[in-house]
Amino acid sequence: MREYRRVHGESTRGGVDTPIMTANAVVSPIPASQHRTESPTAVSTMVRLVRDSFAAVEPQADQVAQYFYGMLFSIEPSAREMFPANMQVQRSRLLRALVHFVQMVDRPDDLAPFLHQLGRDHRKFGVISSHYEAVGTALIAAVKRYAGPAWTDEVERAWAEAYTIMARTMLDAAAADEGPASWPARVVDHERLGWDLAVVRVQPDHPVPYLPGQYVSVEVPQRPRLWRYLTPANAPRTDGIIEFHVRSVDNGWVSRAIVAHTNIGDTWRIGPPMGRIGVNRKKDRDILMIAGGTGVAPMRAIIEHMAQWGQNPKVHLFNGGRKRDDLYDLPHLQNIAASNPWLTVTPVVETEQGPGYEHGTLADIVTRNGPWADREVLVAGSPAMIRSTVSRMLVAGTPLDHITYDPFTLD
Ligand SMILES: Cc1cc2nc3c(=O)[nH]c(=O)nc-3n(C[C@H](O)[C@H](O)[C@H](O)COP(=O)(O)OP(=O)(O)OC[C@H]3O[C@@H](n4cnc5c(N)ncnc54)[C@H](O)[C@@H]3O)c2cc1C
Ligand code: HEM
Repeated sequence: MREYRRVHGESTRGGVDTPIMTANAVVSPIPASQHRTESPTAVSTMVRLVRDSFAAVEPQADQVAQYFYGMLFSIEPSAREMFPANMQVQRSRLLRALVHFVQMVDRPDDLAPFLHQLGRDHRKFGVISSHYEAVGTALIAAVKRYAGPAWTDEVERAWAEAYTIMARTMLDAAAADEGPASWPARVVDHERLGWDLAVVRVQPDHPVPYLPGQYVSVEVPQRPRLWRYLTPANAPRTDGIIEFHVRSVDNGWVSRAIVAHTNIGDTWRIGPPMGRIGVNRKKDRDILMIAGGTGVAPMRAIIEHMAQWGQNPKVHLFNGGRKRDDLYDLPHLQNIAASNPWLTVTPVVETEQGPGYEHGTLADIVTRNGPWADREVLVAGSPAMIRSTVSRMLVAGTPLDHITYDPFTLD
């Protein structure tokens, strides 16, 4: 497995003691050195065996999940309190994640940076290495139970090896991190911008070392143990205050609670910063930003940060929404653009027409305005918007390695 290349600094230093994990063996102990020398053929055979056997159990996903969590909590009862009281509301997030990532071990360049961040992030649950062993055992037992004749010793070895690679990558990253596992943060402001949108400002007890463009996971007192990702919308400030833009989604457990029921003085917990979106000044390329809905948050944090520098590459931001009201941050961005000639902001609205707005989807408008082949491209928004915009840009000629987005979402 190739070594993780730092995208834009990953340290999450702080001053608080945290549970330190030791990188013990998981399920079938394979030394880390061996993963790196695994031949491509061996890895692709492993992935094929895992995919084929999972395809056989997929129609029974609910039973697999029930068996998995039942076994996990019986062999490691201490893990139960990390999960929400009502397991239905999460729709088997952990199991879905495990299965998704086990099938990606042949893409270490994509996976390893994310697993490093995830491993550090999992410290907030109080996860230690014995939990990884229990999760691996429960995962393999659950798939085996429902795989029928598709399950062989070779298949079992493939699952164990793939899981071990992931677990070890996460454990190593967690053990190497000396920063806090999470930061308590007090809500100092809650502003309703509409029935489904709120801006929340929190004051962490110590500054959270995020880089502009990164996101964090957040737990709020109204929804204990239901962690969700949110993106700081401001550049890091000396007083440490972080602004979040939260839109409630239909039937959303956490977003609706944040928008409607946050109180000044509530204490949130914030996990270590994650994500790849950011500006690498060494690349020396002009920048194209594409932001749908609250996807504007990472772009605004980056733009605010750039506005503190003397010289900048050109930045063109397409800020899109379904209706005009969805572009809630447009006046602020236009203000920044008015005094920073390197920044151009184009508002894009899907369902309404009018002067000053481009009419269409972000995918339509961005590709209509150019191939953008020479730009560094940053994309944030709903998974559907990211998918359609990135695929249209690739067809229009933007090289894939110029495009950055945070694709690892399960919803
Ligand atoms: C990298 C990243 C950064 C994020 N940053 C922000 C941010 O800054 N501000 C913000 O408001 N949200 C952000 N999100 C989305 C956020 O993490 C939650 O997924 C969202 O708030 C829904 O959580 P919930 O508990 O309310 O919904 P859930 O109870 O988890 O889901 C309820 C229903 O809503 C659907 N759903 C879940 N998420 C979405 C979504 N994003 N859009 C539409 N439908 C959805 C689910 O499929 C389900 O049917 C980010 C997500 C990721 C992956
Ligand atoms: C290789 C091993 C693992 C991988 C790849 C992994 C990955 C993930 C991912 C991607 C999520 C979902 C994050 C999100 O989008 O909300 C998640 C959630 C979670 N994981 Fe892990 N995880 C691993 C091991 C563990 C272990 C060992 C534990 C401890 C028992 C654990 C406990 C949790 C908990 C409590 C959640 C939140 C669950 C929920 O909300 O239902 N994970 N994991």
